[in-house]
Amino acid sequence: MIGLPAVARDTYWVGVNDHETDLFEALWPLPYGVSYNAYLVVDNKIALIDAVKGHFLADHLGKIRALLPAHKSLDYLIINHMEPDHTGAIDILRSVFPHMTLVGNKKTLEMLRAFYGADSACLEVGDGDELDLGTHRLQFHLTPMVHWPETMMTFDATTGVLFSGDAFGGFGAVDRGLFDDEVNLELMQREMLRYFTNIVARYGQMVIKAIEKLRPVPLRVVAPTHGTVWRRNPSLPVELYARWSAQECDPTVAVIYGSMYGNTYRLVEVAARALTERGLAPVVHDIARSHASHVVADLWTCKGLILACPTYNTGLFPPMESLLALLENKLLKNRLLGFVTSYAWAGGARKALEAFAQRLSLEVVPPVVEVKGAGTAQDLEQCALLAAHLAERISS
Ligand SMILES: Cc1cc2nc3c(=O)[nH]c(=O)nc-3n(C[C@H](O)[C@H](O)[C@H](O)COP(=O)(O)O)c2cc1C
Ligand SMILES: [Fe+2]
Ligand SMILES: [Fe+2]
Repeated sequence: MIGLPAVARDTYWVGVNDHETDLFEALWPLPYGVSYNAYLVVDNKIALIDAVKGHFLADHLGKIRALLPAHKSLDYLIINHMEPDHTGAIDILRSVFPHMTLVGNKKTLEMLRAFYGADSACLEVGDGDELDLGTHRLQFHLTPMVHWPETMMTFDATTGVLFSGDAFGGFGAVDRGLFDDEVNLELMQREMLRYFTNIVARYGQMVIKAIEKLRPVPLRVVAPTHGTVWRRNPSLPVELYARWSAQECDPTVAVIYGSMYGNTYRLVEVAARALTERGLAPVVHDIARSHASHVVADLWTCKGLILACPTYNTGLFPPMESLLALLENKLLKNRLLGFVTSYAWAGGARKALEAFAQRLSLEVVPPVVEVKGAGTAQDLEQCALLAAHLAERISS
């Protein structure tokens, strides 16, 4: 069918591209859009695997109808994930296809009732259960908390396609290419990291568990609910998600700072320069201006983090406070921290940063720089020294 790429035999992408939502989850900017991927397996029985956000139903439905053989209807809707970006269209889909059976695990069906009421035929499936469509044999693998408690994956044992839900997904619409062999992979991998860090990272341990559980599955194609479909190199998204979930880091540094009047920034510049001179040119973000979604993605693979900000009303500069809350929620680990703080009378930023490091059991590399007012030449030297120590630790 024109415009509806085949992911495998009898298996078509019937998702939608969204360039209208500015903020995913009303939080995360979407400069390259996002896709809600759904797939149709056309066999003796016809199964839709995941649906889309409600607003995009007309487009989604048009695609499904274009593929339905004459006099046939949808037999199953398989719900790998109940979040409304994949189920918002359910209400109308079930009125269009009244004989469709909703397929999910116990938790999915419970949630389904809470969100959309109970007036549908449902089929409850458990871990390892199979559903025969005729030629295609679908197997269900429960992968709880790979984003919500009910998340599961569906593996088509006939074609080797793993419909993985949010796992292995990324931001970025797929109108610039659906498959990994068609797209600008560098861009899509960056958007995938931003998706992972902002949406999934909190549940890294559960991602690792899911990956371990799926090891024996002979997958040929990874088809997530967002972003690129991986057919040339299906192991790459799995490796990337495993690495990001384990918080394995590169020997690199991110410098994240806030500064109202430029005093803290002068110190930051010295530290950044000293890192660059040691071959560790850092990624630098002004936390008041860079959106946290980019900051978190950029720092996620950095072993070293310099956090720098002034004291503000006895505590942290507010955008820094909010970034640290996000990092704490994501259970940040395995980093070396450096602190640069400033104040005018009693301070407070330093204490708050140290408390953060303690709560997360993260090592702080000395010296901790704390500067009154504009700071002295010795203060600048302390910043260079901090950079040198961090560089030494990272490179050793
Ligand atoms: C709104 C505001 C609140 C501040 N609160 C404190 C404070 O509670 N304690 C303190 O010692 N300094 C406080 N300061 C002073 C700043 O920490 C100090 O001026 C610092 O040098 C500012 O760094 P910057 O130039 O990088 O913005 C405050 C400054 C502002 C503008
Ligand atoms: Fe989700
Ligand atoms: Fe999603």
